[in-house]
Amino acid sequence: TGTLSASAARTGRIFGAAVASSHLTGDQQYANTLDTEFSGVTPENEMKWETTEPERGSFNFAPADIIVSHAQSHNMKIRGHTLVWYSQLAPWVNDIATGSELLQVMKNHIANEMGHFKGKIWYWDVVNEAFNDDGSRRSTNNVFQQKIGDSYIEEAFKAARLADPNAKLCYNDYDTDGINEKSTAIYNMVKDFKARGVPIDCVGFQSHMIVDQVPPDYQENLQRFAALGIDVQVTELDIRMSTPVSDADLQSQADNYQRVVKACLAVSHCNDITVWGVTDKYSWIPQYFSGQGAALLFDDNYKKKAACNLVIQTLTSG
Ligand code: G3I
Repeated sequence: TGTLSASAARTGRIFGAAVASSHLTGDQQYANTLDTEFSGVTPENEMKWETTEPERGSFNFAPADIIVSHAQSHNMKIRGHTLVWYSQLAPWVNDIATGSELLQVMKNHIANEMGHFKGKIWYWDVVNEAFNDDGSRRSTNNVFQQKIGDSYIEEAFKAARLADPNAKLCYNDYDTDGINEKSTAIYNMVKDFKARGVPIDCVGFQSHMIVDQVPPDYQENLQRFAALGIDVQVTELDIRMSTPVSDADLQSQADNYQRVVKACLAVSHCNDITVWGVTDKYSWIPQYFSGQGAALLFDDNYKKKAACNLVIQTLTSG
């Protein structure tokens, strides 16, 4: 009993979900579950560059506005996702000839998008997925890295601070949930940014995980980032398994979700847990990992899964 949002609020935390505008307007049960259970939203695709600036200088915020106004009218916090990412980028950006012009294009994009939503966004994912597994910068298919170089990340954060000084600014990535080469490279970048006064307020840990594979040092990893003087957030949590599901996997999934919640509760600067979808019905997983799914807290029929009940219980009583 109880809800995700109310139990998270007991310790001042937000419990959010990635939201798609099409389901929000097209599926009443989806909207009802969101409104009843969640206190935060992240637009799943609507704030990405291919949607918001499909042609140079021509902006489209209509799909994101649907989510933002819904969230505002239901008192939910909004995570902006995402300003600078190599993927779901408008194709024209890849054709910009020089680094200096691309830097202007990037700054202009940030100023316009953050300007449109100014005052409405809690945390922004300013830069997304800029590192490789080995800790090097991701260059493949990444025009920003290729044409501007490492400095595009700090330039993006500086532009973001100017565009909406009240929004908190995050770096967000995946497979960074435990202590490994990738998370350590990001840790070192944040440490350097803090030392040099580059504005950064938060690191987001996407936490797309596989059942029974939660890194044992998850909490320790969150803690070391928080110790740099930033907030940490669980931004895209899901824990996938083979389908059709087994009871044993569903039980393991519940235990795994509990581990993540306990880790966040143990770190005072972990103020948000966002799952990457409201319901298994619309999760991105089956499309990307064939034969896998059931990664979220509500099943295809919007029924609370064992994981959901255990998350609520853990948020309520620690
Ligand atoms: O826009 C087209 C639409 O025109 C077409 O009719 C439709 C047909 O399938 O496809 C639409 O594009 C889809 C797009 O989402 C927008 O809805 C793509 O097929 C689909 O593959 C794409 O997937 C998204 C994925 O990012 C793409 O990178 C997922 O919904 C979204 O959950 C996922 O989210 C990412 C985070 O942003 C960053 N971290 C990883 C996470 C999971 O991949």
